[in-house]
Amino acid sequence: MTAILPLGLDELLTTTRSVRKRLDFSKPVERETIQQCIEIAIQAPTPSNLQNWHFVVVTEVEKRRALADLYRKGREIYVTLPSATPNLEYEDPKRNRMQEKIEESAQYLNMYFQEAPVHVIPCIEGRTDSSKQAEGWGDTPNILLQSAQWGSIAPATWNFMLAARARGLGTCWTSLHLFFEEQAAEIIGIPYDKIMQACLMPVAYTKGTDFKLGKRDPIDSVIHWDSW
Ligand SMILES: Cc1cc2nc3c(=O)[nH]c(=O)nc-3n(C[C@H](O)[C@H](O)[C@H](O)COP(=O)(O)O)c2cc1C
Repeated sequence: MTAILPLGLDELLTTTRSVRKRLDFSKPVERETIQQCIEIAIQAPTPSNLQNWHFVVVTEVEKRRALADLYRKGREIYVTLPSATPNLEYEDPKRNRMQEKIEESAQYLNMYFQEAPVHVIPCIEGRTDSSKQAEGWGDTPNILLQSAQWGSIAPATWNFMLAARARGLGTCWTSLHLFFEEQAAEIIGIPYDKIMQACLMPVAYTKGTDFKLGKRDPIDSVIHWDSW
């Protein structure tokens, strides 16, 4: 049984960072620790208790390398897009500096993605990503279908990330391999026509276990009491 870090609940919730540069690629991650994290992940809710989630755990070197290559190809496209965060300019110089730091960290992960001893791909049954209405759902608004799908897999994935952090593991939600989701599905044998991938998480023990709160916009800019 992997030791649980002595973190307070709010501390766990507020210090589970996107870890890239502090992933320790040299330390193996036990299979049972990943299994414990997935047991905690699936305590999250799904609509009508559908439990239509899957977690693909990739440890084989060649598969990790192939996924990392797709991620890098995706990122090559991403960084050319005007709305991509590396191309955004904020009015606040502090925000720009923070963005530069995130970009530096993202470049590091981009280079070493394959080195993370475990890759986890949370998946959800049922494709809702095309303009075609999902089968069996009549005229249900697409927003509702999307909400049901991403609202199922995102909380479970976050549970996984929290459980991982509690055990000294670092994770980072990444999505750029999804430029090539079908090719990623082929690498692992995911039935692409029935299953959507939510993200690709590198998982590794962290170098040190102290993490700080993330820098966030002031609460007044995001909270809306009774009206927008
Ligand atoms: C939906 C989503 C997609 C993301 N995609 C990527 C990604 O492709 N690559 C990456 O390095 N980080 C990715 N991130 C991590 C964010 O960049 C990260 O949350 C941000 O840097 C803030 O850092 P923090 O979570 O430690 O506060 C993603 C996060 C989310 C929620």
